[in-house]
Amino acid sequence: MVASFAIHVLFLPRFFVITFSLCFFRVESNVSSCQKEKNTLLGFQRGLTDPYKLSLVSSWSDQEGSKISPSLVELEFLNYLDLRENFFNSTSIPSFLGSMVNLTHLDLHDAQFCGHISHQLGNLSSLLYLNLKENNGLYVDKLHWMFHLSSMQHLDLSHTDLHREVDWLQIVSSLSSLLELILNNCQLDSLTPSVGFVNSTSLRVLNLSENLFNQEIPNWFSNRSTSLLEYLNLRDNSLSGKIPDLLGQLKRLMDLDLSDNSLSGPIPSYLGNLSQMQALLLGVNKLNGTVPKSLGLLSNLFALSISHNFFTSNLDEAHFSKLGKLKELEISYTPLFFNVNSNWVPHFQLEYVSMISCKIGPNKLYIFTLSLLQSIIIFEM
Ligand SMILES: *[C@@H]1O[C@H](CO)[C@@H](O)[C@H](O)[C@H]1NC(C)=O
Ligand SMILES: *[C@@H]1O[C@H](CO)[C@@H](O)[C@H](O)[C@H]1NC(C)=O
Ligand SMILES: *[C@@H]1O[C@H](CO)[C@@H](O)[C@H](O)[C@H]1NC(C)=O
Ligand SMILES: *[C@@H]1O[C@H](CO)[C@@H](O)[C@H](O)[C@H]1NC(C)=O
Ligand SMILES: *[C@@H]1O[C@H](CO)[C@@H](O)[C@H](O)[C@H]1NC(C)=O
Ligand SMILES: *[C@@H]1O[C@H](CO)[C@@H](O)[C@H](O)[C@H]1NC(C)=O
Ligand SMILES: *[C@@H]1O[C@H](CO)[C@@H](O)[C@H](O)[C@H]1NC(C)=O
Ligand SMILES: *[C@@H]1O[C@H](CO)[C@@H](O)[C@H](O)[C@H]1NC(C)=O
Ligand SMILES: *[C@@H]1O[C@H](CO)[C@@H](O)[C@H](O)[C@H]1NC(C)=O
Repeated sequence: MVASFAIHVLFLPRFFVITFSLCFFRVESNVSSCQKEKNTLLGFQRGLTDPYKLSLVSSWSDQEGSKISPSLVELEFLNYLDLRENFFNSTSIPSFLGSMVNLTHLDLHDAQFCGHISHQLGNLSSLLYLNLKENNGLYVDKLHWMFHLSSMQHLDLSHTDLHREVDWLQIVSSLSSLLELILNNCQLDSLTPSVGFVNSTSLRVLNLSENLFNQEIPNWFSNRSTSLLEYLNLRDNSLSGKIPDLLGQLKRLMDLDLSDNSLSGPIPSYLGNLSQMQALLLGVNKLNGTVPKSLGLLSNLFALSISHNFFTSNLDEAHFSKLGKLKELEISYTPLFFNVNSNWVPHFQLEYVSMISCKIGPNKLYIFTLSLLQSIIIFEM
C-alpha cells in the first residue's frame, strides 16, 4: 500500500518502482558507485541521476498518511533527504534519522510531524541545512545536541516550541557557520546573553519574528561591527525601548522589520546610512518625533512603512530625495503632515500607498500622480 510508505517500495522489482515513482513521487538516485547500496536499493537503477539524493516531496495525500520505515537507515549513504509537505499524521520525527550520519540536507518542513524532537539528530554532524518549520506541535526540551551541528548553515525551526531551552541563544551562537537562522513563532522569551551575537557571526538572515521577548532590543551590535547581516526581522515581539543607534552599523542590511512592537522614541537618523536598505518596516509602534530626512538617501528603498506611530513632523521633498525605487509607502494613522510642493517631480512611481488619517498638503489629488494607474491608494480626502 502506498500508505505504508515508499521504503517498502524500494525493495520491489524495478518495473514496479519506476511505475510507482511516476505516479507518486520523484526519486533521484544513482547507485552505480556503491555495491552495497546497489543491493539494498534494488529498485533504483542506472539512469537515475544522483546516488546520494532522495527527494519524496508531497508524495502522499492527506488521506493516505505516511510512515517512515526504519529500513530508511539502509540508505545511510544519503546526504540529501527531502520529505517536506508529506502527511506524517502527528507522529514524531523518527530518532533513527540520527544514524544517517552523512546527511547534509534534511528537509522535513510542513510534514505534520509532532512531539518531541529527538536528541539523536545531534549525530548528524555533517548537516548544512535543517528545516523543520510548519509542523504540527514539535517541541524541544534541550537543544544541547545542536552543539554538534557545527557545519550548519541554514537552520529553520519556525513554529517549533523552543521556550524550554533558555540557553537557545548561546547554543545557536556557537554555530559559527550559520548563515540563516529562522526561528519565527518559537515561543522564545529569553534573549540572554544579550551582548554580541549578531556582530560576531557570519549570519546573513536572522528572523525571530512572532516570539515573546518583551524587552528592549538587545545590544547585539558593536561600534566596530563587521556584521554581514542582510535581513533582520524582529516583528511582533512586544519589544520596548528605543531603536538602537548601533543598528546603523549593519552596513549590509537590506531588510529591517521591527513592526508590531512597542518601540518608542525617534527613528535614528543613522538608518539613512544603510545604503543597501530595500525594506524598512517600522509600523505599529510608539515611535515619535520627526522622521529623519536621511531616510531620503536610501536609494534602494522599495518599501517604507511608518504607519500607526506618533510622528508629528512634516514629510517633504527631502524625505524622498533619492528614493528612486520606492514602490510601497505606508504612512497611515500617524499625525504626519505630507507636505510636498505640487510642482515636485518625484523620482519614483508608487504601486501601493496608504495614507489614512494623514494630513496632506494643499493639493490632495496630487497623490494620484505619484502612483501608477493600477495602484492601491488609500487615503481620506
Ligand atoms: C553515477 O555515479 C558515478 C560514480 O560517482 C558517476 O561516475 C556517474 O557519472 C554518475 N551517473 C550519473 C548519471 O550521475
Ligand atoms: C492518523 O492518526 C490517527 C490517530 O492515531 C488515526 O486514527 C488515523 O487513522 C490516522 N490517519 C491516517 C490517514 O493514517
Ligand atoms: C560517509 O561519507 C564518507 C566520505 O564520503 C564515507 O567514507 C563514508 O563511508 C560514508 N558513510 C556512510 C555511512 O555511507
Ligand atoms: C548517536 O550517537 C550516539 C553516540 O555516538 C549513539 O549511541 C547513538 O546510537 C546514535 N544514534 C543513532 C540514531 O544512530
Ligand atoms: C561584538 O559585540 C560585542 C559587544 O559590543 C563585543 O564585545 C564583541 O567583541 C564584538 N565582536 C566582534 C567580532 O566584533
Ligand atoms: C520571517 O518570518 C515571517 C513570519 O513572521 C515570514 O513571513 C518571512 O517570510 C520570514 N522571512 C524569512 C527570510 O525567513
Ligand atoms: C560607540 O562609539 C560612540 C562614540 O564613538 C560612543 O559614545 C559609544 O559609547 C560607543 N558604543 C558602544 C556600544 O561601544
Ligand atoms: C553616516 O554617514 C555620514 C555621511 O556619510 C557620516 O558622516 C556619519 O558618520 C555616518 N554615521 C554613522 C553612524 O555611520
Ligand atoms: C516621545 O515620547 C516620549 C515618551 O514616550 C516623550 O518623553 C518625548 O518627549 C516624545 N518626543 C517627542 C519629540 O514628542
